[in-house]
Amino acid sequence: MPPRDYPLEPFWIPFTANRQFKAAPRILVSAKDMHYVAEDGRAVLDGTAGLWCVNAGHCRERITEAIRKQAAELDYGPIFQMGHPGPFKVAERVKKLLPGDLEHVFFTNSGSESVDTALKIALAYHRARGEGHRRWLIGRERGYHGAGFGGTSVGGIPANRRAFGNLLPYVDHLPHTHDLEHNSFSRGQPAWGAHLAEELEHRIIALHDASNIAAVIVEPVAGSTGVLVPPKGYLERLRELCDKHGILLIFDEVITGFGRVGAPFAATRFGVVPDIITMAKGITNATVPMGAVAVRRGIYESVVNGAAENAIELAHGYTYSGHPLAAAAALATLDLYEEERLFERAASLAPHFENAVHSLREAPHVADIRNFGMMAAIELEPIPGKPGARGYQALVRAFERGVLVRTTGDVIAMSPPLIISKEQIDELVGTLASVLREMATQNP
Ligand SMILES: Cc1ncc(COP(=O)(O)O)c(C=O)c1O
Repeated sequence: MPPRDYPLEPFWIPFTANRQFKAAPRILVSAKDMHYVAEDGRAVLDGTAGLWCVNAGHCRERITEAIRKQAAELDYGPIFQMGHPGPFKVAERVKKLLPGDLEHVFFTNSGSESVDTALKIALAYHRARGEGHRRWLIGRERGYHGAGFGGTSVGGIPANRRAFGNLLPYVDHLPHTHDLEHNSFSRGQPAWGAHLAEELEHRIIALHDASNIAAVIVEPVAGSTGVLVPPKGYLERLRELCDKHGILLIFDEVITGFGRVGAPFAATRFGVVPDIITMAKGITNATVPMGAVAVRRGIYESVVNGAAENAIELAHGYTYSGHPLAAAAALATLDLYEEERLFERAASLAPHFENAVHSLREAPHVADIRNFGMMAAIELEPIPGKPGARGYQALVRAFERGVLVRTTGDVIAMSPPLIISKEQIDELVGTLASVLREMATQNP
């Protein structure tokens, strides 16, 4: 391996045990299609599409060329009271993929910014309609909505909240839907758990009153917490309850958007149309950061038409909203998804992926397996007194054997690029099976 010509210490690595990582780093230096190349020259099969985002596979020429061309043509243009063609074109393309009357698209640079933007739009919408008392934002336990203060507040992963004080006021949480006793080893949507949506009415609305609640935000399939698939009927019931009480329903589709569940969005796949959809990641195949928030026509019209003429209707945005490079990357990415029919491909690969991951049921220390579309999780029994240690060992050993998986605590998540072949799915799962067997001989 060539010696590293940079130090490891100055970079404070996000969501990482810095001391542990810097003692034994895993560095990737290049990528193509389904593989990374590690610094020691080894090919590593990408079982996670980077961080659930490289849906079309790595370094696709169509996208890299579009970015190169755009960088030489218009590197940057201001987006407040000015414009350039890219974001208008991307908004139109995204609109065509969206269900119902989700027709207007606001650009951000990440999933976290998309979530904070969506929460602010929800508050602004109610205020524009004379219901500014609707301030409560309802998330869900085990939800992940990024790292901004808004997203952290409505998020429900305790470790992500612990260090940051009171976070936003006026936030409450629905219960999560995962229960090993009732829905372990479900293939696709669990049959048990739809009744948990009733908690919105029975507990949250009963306590805060519907007239004070602005929005409910959920991931249609929770990703980062370890792939929690919505029970059959659950999202439909949330939709009904939000409609009944005038509450906006936000789907955070930062992971589930752009083909991950075998459709453009999970909203399409489940046939449940939310009022707002947040997205990021796959919109540019992760090449240039971009996020977006799509809203229903009525939301846009209420906020925009509710303001005085010539006034800025929504005092919100980012210097890089709709950045020309991101827009060029998004247009090329959306072309690629369409030409290669990658969303349909994801749908047709999903049964093979499901069978492959569920073949791990008999592997040592497997407590649960769950899957939906091209997302799957293997939950391991924790080593007594050392939560997360078994998961981390699996990550390290899989990487040593040339396979990249992701772990959250003792849950292994897999979400490969949608160009993966059936043979590569078998390789991914087969490697994991041997890793789990090998680990069991050392840590029974
Ligand atoms: C559902 C969801 N929302 C928001 C985010 C935050 O996105 P970003 O890391 O781009 O800020 C993520 C990231 O994984 C996510 O999965």
